[in-house]
Amino acid sequence: MMGRLISMLWLPILVLLLVENGRMVKSASKYLIGLGSYDITGPAADVNMMGYANTDQTASGVHFRLRARAFIVAEPQGNRILFVNLDACMASQLVTIKVLERLRARYGNLYTENNVAISGIHTHAGPGGYLQYVVYIVTSLGFVRQSFDALVDGIEQSIIQAHDNLRPGSIYVNKGELLDAGVNRSPSAYLNNAASERSKYKYDVDKDMTLLKFVDDEWGPVGSFNWFATHGTSMSRTNSLISGDNKGAAARFMEDWFDQNNSGRMASEVSKGNEIPRRVSNIIPVVEDNHHELLELAASFESLSGKSTTRFMSIARRVRSALRQADRPKFISAFCQTNCGDVSPNVLGAFCTDTGLPCDFNHSTCGGKNELCYGRGPGYPDEFESTRIIGERQLKKAVELFSAASEQLNGKIDYRHSYVDFSKLNVTVSTQGGGTNVVKTCPAAMGFAFAAGTTDGPGAFDFKQGDDKGNAFWKLVRNLLKNPGEEQVECQSPKPILLDTGEMKQPYDWAPSILPVQILRIGKLVILSVPGEFTTMAGRRLRDAVKTVLTNGGSKEFGSNVHVVIAGLTNTYSQYVTTFEEYQIQRYEGASTLYGPHTLSGYIQEFKKLAAALITGQSVDSGPQPPDLLSKQISLLTPVVMDATPIGVKFGDVSLDVAKNATFKRSDNVTVAFWSACPRNDLMTEGTFALVEILKGKDSWEPTYDDDDFCLRFIWSRPTKLSTHSHATIEWIIPHTAASGVYRIRHFGAAKSLLGSIKHFTGSSSAFVVA
Ligand SMILES: *[C@@H]1O[C@H](CO)[C@@H](O)[C@H](O)[C@H]1NC(C)=O
Ligand SMILES: *[C@@H]1O[C@H](CO)[C@@H](O)[C@H](O)[C@H]1NC(C)=O
Ligand SMILES: *[C@@H]1O[C@H](CO)[C@@H](O)[C@H](O)[C@H]1NC(C)=O
Ligand SMILES: *[C@@H]1O[C@H](CO)[C@@H](O)[C@H](O)[C@H]1NC(C)=O
Ligand SMILES: *[C@@H]1O[C@H](CO)[C@@H](O)[C@H](O)[C@H]1NC(C)=O
Repeated sequence: MMGRLISMLWLPILVLLLVENGRMVKSASKYLIGLGSYDITGPAADVNMMGYANTDQTASGVHFRLRARAFIVAEPQGNRILFVNLDACMASQLVTIKVLERLRARYGNLYTENNVAISGIHTHAGPGGYLQYVVYIVTSLGFVRQSFDALVDGIEQSIIQAHDNLRPGSIYVNKGELLDAGVNRSPSAYLNNAASERSKYKYDVDKDMTLLKFVDDEWGPVGSFNWFATHGTSMSRTNSLISGDNKGAAARFMEDWFDQNNSGRMASEVSKGNEIPRRVSNIIPVVEDNHHELLELAASFESLSGKSTTRFMSIARRVRSALRQADRPKFISAFCQTNCGDVSPNVLGAFCTDTGLPCDFNHSTCGGKNELCYGRGPGYPDEFESTRIIGERQLKKAVELFSAASEQLNGKIDYRHSYVDFSKLNVTVSTQGGGTNVVKTCPAAMGFAFAAGTTDGPGAFDFKQGDDKGNAFWKLVRNLLKNPGEEQVECQSPKPILLDTGEMKQPYDWAPSILPVQILRIGKLVILSVPGEFTTMAGRRLRDAVKTVLTNGGSKEFGSNVHVVIAGLTNTYSQYVTTFEEYQIQRYEGASTLYGPHTLSGYIQEFKKLAAALITGQSVDSGPQPPDLLSKQISLLTPVVMDATPIGVKFGDVSLDVAKNATFKRSDNVTVAFWSACPRNDLMTEGTFALVEILKGKDSWEPTYDDDDFCLRFIWSRPTKLSTHSHATIEWIIPHTAASGVYRIRHFGAAKSLLGSIKHFTGSSSAFVVA
């Protein structure tokens, strides 16, 4: 007992000594690090969600907000790299181009296409319309300026913060296995990879999470970024609330975890599997836990009927800032995407909705049809629960890796970037006889299986005849479809071509052909930015090829333990990348591998060039510039015409209140509704549409939960499509950690008059008791 106590006392001191030693030895290679984060939540109404390409999946509220999270690492007098992670389905070429233009205007040549990576987490629950190529904006009725602006503005703000925060610090890397957050959704394609290759791996998906921990010299830990492969499809193709899906949720949870880790007990709570403590426990109400007194207090507050306001921003912002020590940098944690191409978070498997039996293994069909085959998440049938669970599993692993990270990154900051035309790339591949052969990639095309979708969202991008009703954008362009020529058919074989997107140029390019490839280096960590969704085996091959170049050729710099991570869906988007063998099977991922069977070999060839240049210190050919198609974009989404309320009712008036003298228990559902207006009038950036307040003292209300909290849902609805009337329904599932006290729920909105002026309003429910 005594012995154990003594060793427990000694352990931290030993660790400290080691770390101190490490620092002293390596103090010459200290970095400057800076992190930033900003709200990128786009329009929460009327806009099609990006990902499933389901025309019926239109945003109508917020589950929690979307953010851009950025880190910069710089050598004090040398190179720097900037990485931005977006709670968005994917990066967009146009967004990247416009962000780079703003960075040039602001910082000159500090941040360029070469050293900036902008990556998406692949949530399928964010507003679309921000990509420039036609095929990605068909279901959003073309380009949506508001979605695009929310991203460009928010990314820029996150970078400004990171830049302004640059201070001396160190970076640690840690890696570990997370077993239960992803399964292969196309195992029949994976099985077509050679048995000898498959036998090198224990699983048919990658289980590694790689985490970077950022430690400020003065403040200690200031953030972490990690990469782990699993799709952002815990939320289904019928969800209409904006959500960061499982990765956005994990990021929200980890930042909250850090902010509340004042007592030191939180880390162990999380790893024990207990519910994550929520912020309200930090705000101790002055009122006593006396039910009768609480009821009397509550009874003295009527609902606050709608009134105009200009103060909503400062009120909402207090929720988060109340939790932080104001004098230290805010903690930022990002959960980034990697080679998730064939990885589903719906880990229970895929089942037929009619029979409840597993779907056909090779085709993911039920009685020959794909529409009924759905993957099940661990919270099935509740997709919010699935999102929370897959998010928490990633959180727990990240907290564990964060807490134990001890390998410090040292050495050069460096990068290489090149644009490559993937529509006509000559690729040298080795033949079985040990020789080489030159093969070609082809102009982009999508196969038939693409229209079938996946078990995460059957029938995605369904272009079949008869599915174009009411989609004006599709009607506009469908007559321009192209018949693929013989050469293209042969090049893409065995893919049967459904849409020859690479050769469709009207009204403007349907698919990208010029793609960015990029390597970012922080000492022994290298990040490979890829503009698509690599499958598990495709990612392994790419990482291995780069690793071989970096560690062979007599390079002592990298030694044997170089960490190679793939940043998926980065800088632009070009759908999937499978192996040659998986391509032959033509599942959804193969059908969506745009540039033919040798697409992956093309990537490997180009990344080897970048890696070789990194080793030798040489520059690479910058390649052809991708087009900027902003001026050509067509937008058919109608703007908000006007908002109105019935006579005798004001915006913000309560239309569904809590019962008089209501008392709720924890885990109860408190639902209230307000007369509202279209959320597109003001995105409430860094603010909120919904707020739960607790009474402090006799008449002062303290914000406790906002629309970025998992427990609070803001649901917006109109009685009919063209109606000027609308409602905001706010649902609060009272967390187990909520303090007893008197509460009320508020709504904030902005209404548009017929002449176009925008007026902000607010309203509140009656007070109620949580006991
Ligand atoms: C959590 O709190 C403990 C005790 O205050 C501290 O030692 C530890 O570093 C904290 N963890 C984080 C991630 O801040
Ligand atoms: C609500 O509760 C208060 C305090 O217990 C009581 O005075 C009041 O009459 C109650 N009102 C209603 C409508 O029940
Ligand atoms: C899947 O297809 C392969 C190749 O055609 C075949 O050998 C196998 O039996 C099929 N599996 C199932 C479960 O149908
Ligand atoms: C690709 O190879 C062909 C010969 O097969 C050659 O004509 C062409 O110029 C090459 N393209 C490039 C970009 O090198
Ligand atoms: C909360 O209650 C409302 C009204 O009964 C219901 O429509 C809604 O689905 C419930 N929300 C949750 C998250 O259970």
